[in-house]
Amino acid sequence: MCGIIGCVGRDDTLDTLIHGLSKLEYRGYDSAGIALAGNGALHIRKRAGELDRLRESIDGEDGLSGTIGIGHTRWSTHGPPTDHNAHPHADCTGTVAVVHNGIIENYQALKDELEAAGHTFESDTDTEVVPHLVEAELAAGAAPGEAFRAAIDRLDGSFAISCVLDDSDSVFVARNDSPLVLGLGDDETYLASDVPAFRAFTDQVVYLADGEFAELRPDGWRVIDASGEPIEKSVETIQWDAEDTGKSGYDHFMLKEIHEQPRALRQCLRGRVSELDGDVTVPELGDIELERVHLVAAGTSYHAAVYGAQLLCDAGISAQAHYAHEYAISPPPIENATVVGVSQSGETADTLAATREARRLGAETLALTNTVGSTMARECDKAFYIRSGPEIGVAATKTFAGQQTALNLLAEAATPGAGDRDLVSALRDLPGNVQEILDESTAESVAEAYIDADSYFFIGRGLNFPVSLEGALKMKEISYEHAEGFAAGELKHGPLALVTANTPVFATVTGDGEYARKTIGNVKEVEARDAPVVAVTDGRSNVGRYADHVLDVPQTHPRVAAILANVQLQLVSYYTAAMLGRSIDKPRNLAKSVTVE
Ligand code: F6R
Repeated sequence: MCGIIGCVGRDDTLDTLIHGLSKLEYRGYDSAGIALAGNGALHIRKRAGELDRLRESIDGEDGLSGTIGIGHTRWSTHGPPTDHNAHPHADCTGTVAVVHNGIIENYQALKDELEAAGHTFESDTDTEVVPHLVEAELAAGAAPGEAFRAAIDRLDGSFAISCVLDDSDSVFVARNDSPLVLGLGDDETYLASDVPAFRAFTDQVVYLADGEFAELRPDGWRVIDASGEPIEKSVETIQWDAEDTGKSGYDHFMLKEIHEQPRALRQCLRGRVSELDGDVTVPELGDIELERVHLVAAGTSYHAAVYGAQLLCDAGISAQAHYAHEYAISPPPIENATVVGVSQSGETADTLAATREARRLGAETLALTNTVGSTMARECDKAFYIRSGPEIGVAATKTFAGQQTALNLLAEAATPGAGDRDLVSALRDLPGNVQEILDESTAESVAEAYIDADSYFFIGRGLNFPVSLEGALKMKEISYEHAEGFAAGELKHGPLALVTANTPVFATVTGDGEYARKTIGNVKEVEARDAPVVAVTDGRSNVGRYADHVLDVPQTHPRVAAILANVQLQLVSYYTAAMLGRSIDKPRNLAKSVTVE
């Protein structure tokens, strides 16, 4: 993971790079650095720790200027977060600087070769071989752009790489398996791992594809292939504003994003559910016919996939959710299957590996993602966008609700004629129902009541099982407290041994059918062991009678109830983490976009 920024053609290059890095910190934040080049000089400054440490270290430094520059915010893969391992990395002469996102698999062999040729290294990173390879090519007489492409040609692995030299006014860029996008201003050009890094300056972008190179210069830009031949690219216009990446008065991005859910869900539904007859049409899906579906995903998106598989099965389509990292290595029989990659970023390496394996085996692939132009969206046969808008907090919130909603649309679109009118009407009411929860939730007082808990357990059946898994994941990742989600029926087969008076059990019980009745049985089991119970419920059953606290969700279609219940659990996790003073938007050891396997 890691974030890259670069710019050419601005007077305030340093400030522009720092601004860009602040917008990319969600991609990694264990060290940061910049390189400024121009007028025969190359200045590299880098620091372990969050961006503020770099800011403080260069604040007021005279002579730190340059007309072109690159920057990097790091999430370690090779070597611990130290000043030496922070990017940019330089060659022996200090005239070539490189930033990199991804993993260079053959770096050790390259390093051995370079060391044998007299190069000396300062870091433990895989990246450092790149400036040395460029240096070697330059020494052999190659022009800068040629030297860069020749160096990249030696690399195996995944990378987005950018390079500047002291005596060249170009920024060189290469992409293979890691995201990179160019931003086009009037008199300046940017590059970044993601659009928010330069969105304040331009809405015109060019997405690079794997195997493409770019050269940014004060007088223009070009995209070329490995042999230097120009590639024609289309310029796209970003539809969201720079303010969309600010906190808008909320203490954390996560809370802001939880509160953005009504709008995000409205966007997801817009134009896809007919106001007239309630038909669901998703133009991106065309006349999709699904016989068998494999949903592949990781983390929160996997929980959405488990939810989606149940919806598709209910619609009579054979569907299973798979952990992407398992699927990539050992896919089940794939004949007649459509493989759906569920990924908010569209860049998760595990999930990309799974969709790529599916393509290799000849399956039709669909990307269900939030990120237009992401690698998965471009590689799959079709892309279905959840339209949640940028999500900056590392913990996925509005994108999970967007995935759940889009999976409902997928299941409906795939069963034309057999549509569920009640569902469609419930989906129309969904944004308003989420708003009701946000306005009235008592999650903060529930969080306070159990702030000293030893562990938090989440139970549910049917569609509320993935909601319980997600409730627990959210709690553990932002509060750093132990939390587990269980299929409620499994409690008595082992986990019940963990239940004590200091382990609150969050039971999601919606509807009044068999799932509700049986989950209430499980609630009684934990209550008998003195565990406090928090019922997340629409009040259709009498679970509230056995609960110490109740978190209400409006009565609606059972599928939609599972989307609403999750919003209450998001709020409980958020307030628990806030009371414990955790780093909510950037939890320790985690990054937003996991672009390594
Ligand atoms: C947790 C979280 C992660 C991601 C996972 C997959 O809050 O965000 O578990 O869901 O890393 O990411 P995407 O959806 O981008 O493929």
